[in-house]
Amino acid sequence: MLEGKRVVVIAGSSGIGADVARQAAEKGARVTITGRDPERLQSAAAAMPPGVETVAFDATDRAKVIEFFAGCGPIDHLVSCVGFTEQGTLLGHDEDRARMVLEHKFWAQLFIVRAAHAQIARDGSIVLTGGTSDERAIFPHFSAFSVIGNTAVGALVRGLAGEIAPVRINVVEPTLTQTPLLGPITAAVEELMARFVRSSPAAKVPQPADVARSYIHAMESGLINGDRLRPDGGPSFSYW
Ligand SMILES: NC(=O)c1ccc[n+]([C@@H]2O[C@H](COP(=O)([O-])OP(=O)(O)OC[C@H]3O[C@@H](n4cnc5c(N)ncnc54)[C@H](OP(=O)(O)O)[C@@H]3O)[C@@H](O)[C@H]2O)c1
Repeated sequence: MLEGKRVVVIAGSSGIGADVARQAAEKGARVTITGRDPERLQSAAAAMPPGVETVAFDATDRAKVIEFFAGCGPIDHLVSCVGFTEQGTLLGHDEDRARMVLEHKFWAQLFIVRAAHAQIARDGSIVLTGGTSDERAIFPHFSAFSVIGNTAVGALVRGLAGEIAPVRINVVEPTLTQTPLLGPITAAVEELMARFVRSSPAAKVPQPADVARSYIHAMESGLINGDRLRPDGGPSFSYW
């Protein structure tokens, strides 16, 4: 259903965003990916079907976001995987880094929607990225600020669904996913993944391709709207 559609993936040069772009391109979509690093974009596009366009800019730079969408033309589906992860506690946080979580997750994604929504097809959609929300922080990898940022994206999507109709908008909320975001696979990261597997009904750590399928489903479904998709393998029964 994405054959011939124009799909833009903001933050699409790595991890989940790169897999969303690849799967959309494999379905015949005309795909544009963005990110800050032009070389990272080039190497990501080289691993996708031919023809994926790359544009480098920082998604938190309001002027660059406006410039990008002004030159972009009509869009069928817009995906944002913009995010920033801060590790640490509420009381012991570094305020600048904590603010960065909300800047990326909430403000940047809201501004992307503001800048782009008028050029999205009436039967098109927007898919934003949240993460583990409505739950307590899981130290050390997901701080309370990340939970707050992710929860804010859910509220944003429910509010925007009324404002941008008939364009649909949804949020995908990944849980722990094995992407470059986790950094080098140290013993601590291995332990984190093992704890996740022990507590997950699906008994596996999601891979970016697994999570990307939820974005594709949100785009292809004509009716999922104002909703959240959680490709997490089921609720964790004991806290990992
Ligand atoms: N992996 C997980 O366990 C997990 C769990 C919950 C939620 N999430 C969320 O899923 C989303 C994607 O994460 P991921 O794991 O796929 O991360 P990733 O592999 O590190 O990829 C992040 C992507 O975002 C781009 N990016 C980062 N900051 C940007 C900015 N300011 N402007 C433009 N592009 C930017 C990066 O490219 P450049 O660095 O070149 O800009 C890269 O393409 C994030 O919102 C993250 O919070 C991930």
